[in-house]
Amino acid sequence: EKGGYDYFMLKEIVEQPQAVADTLLGRVGVDGTLTLDEMRLAPSELREIEKIVIIACGTSYHAGLIAKYAIEHWCRVPCEVEVASEFRYRDPILNRQTMVIAISQSGESMDTLMAVRYAREQRARVLAICNVNGSTIPRESDGVLYTHAGPEVGVAATKTFLTQLVACYLIGLYLAQVRNTKFGDEVNAVIGQLARMPEQVQEVLGTVGPVRELARSLSGSGTVLFLGRHVGYPVALEGALKLKELAYMHAEAFAAGELKHGPIALIEDGLPVVVVVPSREGRGVLHDKIVSNIQEIRARGARTIVIAEEGDETVRPYADELIGIPSVPTLLQPIIASIPMQVFACELALAKGNDVDRPRNLAKSVTVE
Ligand code: M6R
Repeated sequence: EKGGYDYFMLKEIVEQPQAVADTLLGRVGVDGTLTLDEMRLAPSELREIEKIVIIACGTSYHAGLIAKYAIEHWCRVPCEVEVASEFRYRDPILNRQTMVIAISQSGESMDTLMAVRYAREQRARVLAICNVNGSTIPRESDGVLYTHAGPEVGVAATKTFLTQLVACYLIGLYLAQVRNTKFGDEVNAVIGQLARMPEQVQEVLGTVGPVRELARSLSGSGTVLFLGRHVGYPVALEGALKLKELAYMHAEAFAAGELKHGPIALIEDGLPVVVVVPSREGRGVLHDKIVSNIQEIRARGARTIVIAEEGDETVRPYADELIGIPSVPTLLQPIIASIPMQVFACELALAKGNDVDRPRNLAKSVTVE
């Protein structure tokens, strides 16, 4: 049942092009029309929304952080993202004009479920993004968008993370269409690009071989740092989480702009630092800023592992290791930039002899608060 792989996680990483295609299936028309029926929120209701609050845990929370960048940009609706376990204890401000999006692969995380119940008590409209059909969170929500990634057995979220991102993008693009924002042309272009994502995910999987060797060479390191800006920052957080849970290593992620406010003091000779470089298209300033961040850490001895667009020659002089990914709009880049991170963490864990399907102390779904 592992399809010839030693671990479910390896199989689930490879299944990602299909999983992404299945999330898109039947939802994107050839003319770019989106059909999200199970959302069960009428366009008139969606036009009334004044605020979006995303609640989730772990990897699903990282998907939410990425969604915020896309939703605020395309829809011009304020969007907050919060760890579910913190949410209801701080007396959050919710009302009928608030749309709460609960992201949960299992649909059973107790922290997220309790946050959903709280939001509904406050009369917010609740939309779930889930992978497990008929699980508790979608049953208790007003609407649901299933990710259709198929069962995920490995404790580490991989294909369900990518498909959560796709679901978040679909919601953001749909909202933008319904609300008729001035980004209409961009939204239509992005829908076309999203529809091509399965091929690009496949392309990345075909080129990650060198990441495996790199990961094995780092199995003796005590710490790995991750840096990103914009949507690359949550991708960095996710890369660090994967390394902690699978390889039991100390890993931390920072927004690259925060480096000089403290974390740069951690940089010492040989310290591996993984950096996600945003696409140049549309985000040129961010791109150039992160290139100077890479220069800064390298000058202090860091071993720089740079994930950047194929053909981005500007980063080459400062990259000890360069991992190329296809060129896609920055907002969609997390779908492909996360893949080398998954492979990196998985391979490092395997090099250490860990069971990547069942990492110590963890459960696939956390049904206690
Ligand atoms: O089922 P959920 O998406 O609600 O689970 C949330 C987290 O427990 C989960 O994403 C966890 O962080 C993963 N093991 C990460 O790989």
